[in-house]
Amino acid sequence: MNFPVSESVARMQGSPTIRAMKEASKLREKGVEVIDLTVGEPDFPTPDFIKEYAIEGLQKGFTKYTPSEGLKIFTESVAEFFQSQFKAKVSPNQVAATCGGKQAIFNAICSLVNPGDEVLIPKPYWVTFPEIVNFCGAKNVFIETEATEFVITLDQIKAAVTDKTKLLILNSPNNPTGRVIPENEIIKIIEFCADRNIYVIADECYLFFVYPPSKVFTCAVLPEELRKFVCIAGSFSKTFSMTGWRIGFVIADESWIKAMTKLQSHSATHPTSFVQYACAKAMQASEIAMKEVEKMLAEYNRRRNFFIPKLQTIEQIKCNLPEGAFYALVDVREMLGKNGFRASEDVASFLLNEVHVAVTDGAGFGADGFLRLSYATSMENLQKAYEKIKEAFSKF
Ligand SMILES: Cc1ncc(COP(=O)(O)O)c(C=O)c1O
Repeated sequence: MNFPVSESVARMQGSPTIRAMKEASKLREKGVEVIDLTVGEPDFPTPDFIKEYAIEGLQKGFTKYTPSEGLKIFTESVAEFFQSQFKAKVSPNQVAATCGGKQAIFNAICSLVNPGDEVLIPKPYWVTFPEIVNFCGAKNVFIETEATEFVITLDQIKAAVTDKTKLLILNSPNNPTGRVIPENEIIKIIEFCADRNIYVIADECYLFFVYPPSKVFTCAVLPEELRKFVCIAGSFSKTFSMTGWRIGFVIADESWIKAMTKLQSHSATHPTSFVQYACAKAMQASEIAMKEVEKMLAEYNRRRNFFIPKLQTIEQIKCNLPEGAFYALVDVREMLGKNGFRASEDVASFLLNEVHVAVTDGAGFGADGFLRLSYATSMENLQKAYEKIKEAFSKF
């Protein structure tokens, strides 16, 4: 007998990004050298000063349960950090600790939407958004954004809103496009939503990875009357290269924070106590912390400026220079319908099997016909990947 999986979980799809990583590692196990551009995580180590704070936390006895919303020092440090970096007026009771940005988004969606509610999700989107909406039995309403080069606009949102719309999910800088929504457009969108009692999740997990002249913008600086409708999902995963530590946070109105904390108190309880301590201390040492972020940003920028122009020389594909995050979204639609390529998935498999370059198919992100290439890897790997992709596509 098959396991009687619950309807809520049966409605969800497995993660296509994890699938791509698994295929690459299977090949690697056979002894093949694979260049992996599927990774959605920084290739830098966690900065030493944060590791030292974690050890200090352990030694100080931060090894027990904490409140579900997180240690006081944690919620206070997030609030102070947003004040010092952005002059945002966030109070500690508008903050809660989560086990990464993913749990932040899970808590925010599950504590708000009901079956039948509509959730607006601009395409392409991070794979997890629609699956949590599916889990809740709500309806995903996807918004096409190709006409505006994958940057959502207020007009596109207006056209998708109905009287069932409960939530909009924004993600800037975006995974998988690397695009950044301009500040004035975000403000107009949130004003429109607040006016109609539509809530907004602002996924700011790549907040600090924006390349000049584009500018970092956090919804934490919005006036209180707009922030009532906004939940910011923040993460330490990418900012401080801490993906495995599983720590993030939400910033929202106190009533939304309370609902999310109630949910979290019956699931993860809270993120690891000494990890909360380490992050709180890191945010207090904001100058040192931001120096580390700047070093990573400069290196990503160097890779972006090296890799994307090289990809642009490959005739068969199209790729724009992204303003943020560390992904390139590559349009392979001109290759489809010929040479046995039915969908971008076939192009991804071809690259993996033919030249051992692992990339992620865009279909899981609502971007069929595209591939996502992560440049969170060494310049040497990027050079090799470029040469191999060019060689593989030169046959067509
Ligand atoms: C857009 C986006 N949001 C949220 C996350 C969640 O990251 P974490 O749970 O590691 O903080 C990711 C991770 O890849 C992401 O790409």
